[in-house]
Amino acid sequence: MTNIQTVGVAGAGTMGAGIAIVAARAGFRTIVFDTRQEALDHAKEQTSAFLKKSEERGKLPAGGAAAALGKWEGTTKLEDMARCDLVIEAIFEDIKVKHQLFSELNKHCPEKTIFASNTSTISITEIAGGSGRADRFVGMHFCLPAQLMKLIEMSPGMNTSPETFDTAWKFAQAMGQKPVATQDTPGFILNYFLIPFNNDAIRLVEQGVADPRDIDIAVKTALGYPMGPLELLDLVGMDTQKLLCEAMHGLTQESRAACPPLVRRMIAANRLGKKTGVGFHTYGNTKMFGA
Ligand SMILES: NC(=O)c1ccc[n+]([C@@H]2O[C@H](COP(=O)([O-])OP(=O)(O)OC[C@H]3O[C@@H](n4cnc5c(N)ncnc54)[C@H](O)[C@@H]3O)[C@@H](O)[C@H]2O)c1
Repeated sequence: MTNIQTVGVAGAGTMGAGIAIVAARAGFRTIVFDTRQEALDHAKEQTSAFLKKSEERGKLPAGGAAAALGKWEGTTKLEDMARCDLVIEAIFEDIKVKHQLFSELNKHCPEKTIFASNTSTISITEIAGGSGRADRFVGMHFCLPAQLMKLIEMSPGMNTSPETFDTAWKFAQAMGQKPVATQDTPGFILNYFLIPFNNDAIRLVEQGVADPRDIDIAVKTALGYPMGPLELLDLVGMDTQKLLCEAMHGLTQESRAACPPLVRRMIAANRLGKKTGVGFHTYGNTKMFGA
């Protein structure tokens, strides 16, 4: 049982759009906030297409797509988040930007509203410190692509109250997700090894050891991963990967977490991955979800 009814998602990018699908599909009223109207329009269009396809494939009951879409609402007005029982932040991986958002949200949202961050690498305690409600703050790290992946890494900050953690945990379960508990440490469980691992794959390309296609085939075939590291990086986006590396490297000084120069060159060339149609691989469209 959860006492959460209305969910806010701040950021309608790669992760926010997927997280909003998870919440709306589970029947929660879902308010998606982004500063850019075009991000909301793109997310809504992709959400609609994804839900329709899910219904056609029998993953949703008849009428399920319309029902979920009916729960989805986009806004560029932060004050609309005042209606939320819990807000999940999925904006740029930059502590200053996150602090700015949470301090504004803190002014608009009632006392009871729980704040959550989907950060991959920044300390929950540090983000919570700028939120004005560190006791009602929790880490909820969804995996990419959020609308398909069940895992949520749940991490309390130093001042998170047990009630807040429990409420967020039950809410994760009510969305049909699989929560796991982890301490507030850089990269939590998954990114602790995925960021250095993915950077190793980038360095193999940089050094001309193998083509992206062959690296992906090798990893999928031998390790049984559903996606190769370079396919995954194309979904993550080079811009996001750079921010993740900078945050992780800054915290750990682990050399394998340092952003490979190729990532910076790809950003300069607008080869961000799926979102610009070309990254390590080339795509026929810039759809957020699906092939
Ligand atoms: N991409 C991944 O693989 C992945 C996986 C798990 C978690 N994350 C985390 O999720 C967060 C978002 O990553 P992403 O890949 O979705 O980024 P993204 O660049 O695809 O999307 C970010 C969105 O946030 C919006 N935004 C920026 N500042 C804002 C603000 N102040 N208020 C409202 N909206 C704002 C942008 O307009 C954009 O639409 C990051 O913290 C990242 O670490 C990313």
